[in-house]
Amino acid sequence: MTQNIELRTMNILVTGGVGYVGSIVTEELLNKGYRVIILDNLQQGHKEAILPEAEFVLADICEAQALEDVFRRFEIDAVMHMAAETVVEYSMTDPKRYFHNNIVGGIKLLDAMLKHKVCKFVFSSSAAVYGDPESIPIEEDHRKLPVNSYGESKLMFERILEWYGKAYGLKHISLRYFNAAGATKLLGEDHHPETHLIPNVLKAALPDSSRFKVQGSKSGSEDIKHRTLNIEPVKLFGTDYPTKDGSCIRDYVHVIDIAQAHILALEKIEQLSGRAYNLGNGEGYSVLEVVEAARKVTHAEIPVKISPRRAGDPAVLVASSRRAKEELGWRPKFPELEAIIESAWKWMRKHPKGY
Ligand code: UFG
Repeated sequence: MTQNIELRTMNILVTGGVGYVGSIVTEELLNKGYRVIILDNLQQGHKEAILPEAEFVLADICEAQALEDVFRRFEIDAVMHMAAETVVEYSMTDPKRYFHNNIVGGIKLLDAMLKHKVCKFVFSSSAAVYGDPESIPIEEDHRKLPVNSYGESKLMFERILEWYGKAYGLKHISLRYFNAAGATKLLGEDHHPETHLIPNVLKAALPDSSRFKVQGSKSGSEDIKHRTLNIEPVKLFGTDYPTKDGSCIRDYVHVIDIAQAHILALEKIEQLSGRAYNLGNGEGYSVLEVVEAARKVTHAEIPVKISPRRAGDPAVLVASSRRAKEELGWRPKFPELEAIIESAWKWMRKHPKGY
């Protein structure tokens, strides 16, 4: 017999729940007392990131029967959808993969929800929906003109949600992440291959086997310095952008703050259904400034290699998150770049080779 949801813990299906953002959303949901069912195909996700308190289902969102089984087996109350193809660069050369997984897979998920009368949906969208912005900071109603098929797929799916909302009563909120970064004590960022700036910068700061203590250092082993000879430099993609130092500017936001926004969205979905929210700190940092901040945090030299521009990269992306603050009551706890990098660094020191 169906239990009244008010009388039991809510069951949240998190797709992509062992990926970078999904695993940390799962951790925060569990901390808040929600029950979590993870659905992940382990293509990008890590089995080491499966939290023991969560249920784990190994499946792909494109498999309709697997989705049917999950909705039959668990009494799902809401879905947080993070399973997706996410690498902007690859989306330029293989758009069909992006449209297949992000659109076709997403529709299969929505259809399973409708069939099982699950009507709450929090969607992991992206700053990539805006393309090259005309004005900074970017407000949610800014023109949307994606410059890569990844962003196009996220925008298309937001629009699909609007139609499902109007026609079938689906309650939905889209969260447009700017540059997710940082880690928790347990969970961090580990993509293969790694394309994101902060983990790549920190990899170039990891001590090699010749790690030694800085002479005269007070804190001893915590201070590190290392030879950079054997270390791959971090590539700096483009120094000819129209920015203060020629490198791209981004708005880095702690993944824990992103996770908190998901919970706020879920809690307010009845009142705020149909809304989209930017998640960023409203502060832009150039690639060179990120490298400099990482040097401070790690006390390492971090060699840099100037490289050509990467396809699909807008010059500047900085969010206005006024709407998320006003309507969701979102209050980022870790807005400082160095604090974000510090948490990623702590995790990487414990997991130098990833999970
Ligand atoms: N960069 C480097 N060297 C690297 C990696 C990145 O110079 O090794 C540069 C990039 O060219 C870019 C900046 O650092 O200018 C940030 O790159 P990331 O790959 O870390 O992040 P993106 O801004 O490309 O991507 C992020 C999200 C995407 C989202 C996109 C919106 O990860 O999901 O923002 O454009 F779609």
